[in-house]
Amino acid sequence: MATNESTGFNTRAIHAGQAFEPRTGAVVPPVHFSSTYAQDGIGGLRAGYEYGRGTNPTRDSLQEQLAALEGGTHAFSFSSGLAAEDSLIRALTRPGDHIVLGNDAYGGTYRLIARVLGDWGIGNTPVDMADLDAVRAAVAAHPTKLVWVETPSNPLMKISDIAAIAGIAHEAGALLVVDNTFASPYLQQPLALGADIVVHSTTKYIGGHSDVVGGAVVVADEDLAEKIGFVQFAVGAVSGPMDAFLTTRGLKTLGVRMDRHSTNAQAVAEWLLGRPEVERVLYPGLPDHPGHELARRQMKSFGGMVSVQFRGGEAVARKVAESTRVFTLAESLGGIESLMNYPSEMTHASVKGTELAVPVNLLRLSVGIEDAEDLIADLERAFSAL
Ligand SMILES: Cc1ncc(COP(=O)(O)O)c(C=O)c1O
Repeated sequence: MATNESTGFNTRAIHAGQAFEPRTGAVVPPVHFSSTYAQDGIGGLRAGYEYGRGTNPTRDSLQEQLAALEGGTHAFSFSSGLAAEDSLIRALTRPGDHIVLGNDAYGGTYRLIARVLGDWGIGNTPVDMADLDAVRAAVAAHPTKLVWVETPSNPLMKISDIAAIAGIAHEAGALLVVDNTFASPYLQQPLALGADIVVHSTTKYIGGHSDVVGGAVVVADEDLAEKIGFVQFAVGAVSGPMDAFLTTRGLKTLGVRMDRHSTNAQAVAEWLLGRPEVERVLYPGLPDHPGHELARRQMKSFGGMVSVQFRGGEAVARKVAESTRVFTLAESLGGIESLMNYPSEMTHASVKGTELAVPVNLLRLSVGIEDAEDLIADLERAFSAL
């Protein structure tokens, strides 16, 4: 079935890049494991396929699906979210260039930019992306090539104004990158809001089942696509065929999963708000969240991630994290099963002691699609054991 931008999101998710196999009519396209392709005479390629690092039909299907869902023209699939980030940064920056990023960006993103790419001459300035004057000043202070926004951010759930920051970046001749991992393309479409590049850890909501690690970059510009495509091919951090297939399969149900993640997370956030043990609930779906109105404008609903800070400090946060039974204590997020994370010692341990350090009384909940009553009962049990 042909899909285009006027087709609904879920129809695109199921059909873009997923034409049935013409010889047998197999409705699910086969997974192509071959690393190489027979040539009809030297240079006689069939449909352009030559070698698996460069092109693979299963990866192409996923890339077409990703581009269709983000409203881009080209998507590139990688072996992890950080591999995607690394390839995109190396494609678009040179020594002496600068990146302005959110001061609560994912710890691994900061580690990559500061501790790997920093040694190759890429500078960085972390800034509060909710403070547009601070963003403007940071961009003006250096030869800024990329502005890097995560919204909602991990794990502080800050909401940044994509359209406004795109304006600031473009005025300064910089490109805006949005890490859309927390929202997913179902809830938020950064390219339509003015961003130049979307990056994902597809490990999270896009894959959706905690069974595959991957990353993606999506653009709507030929020149950017050529540069990123070249690095994808020349460096080779591509997704393998089985990973690409699992990601495609997960992506087909993104819309229904995200609706349910959002409903469950709203219920959990509202329950947490009424508890005496809780100091603060960070969820953009709550009316008193500082980014609530902006999130309403820029997102379809508020997503499945909730962070919570405890009055009793670190000890209480740790005890809750280790007491739940339905929420599993584990890194990562965005799968159908609920996960509990203590960022300070787990996902964000690499930024401890830096400006990006996460409060020690904070837990991050990836609210899954189980029954909301069971999730709340699980938290209630853990709270009553304090
Ligand atoms: C917001 C965000 N971006 C990027 C990444 C990196 O992705 P990956 O773990 O697939 O390399 C993560 C991983 O947790 C993340 O949460």
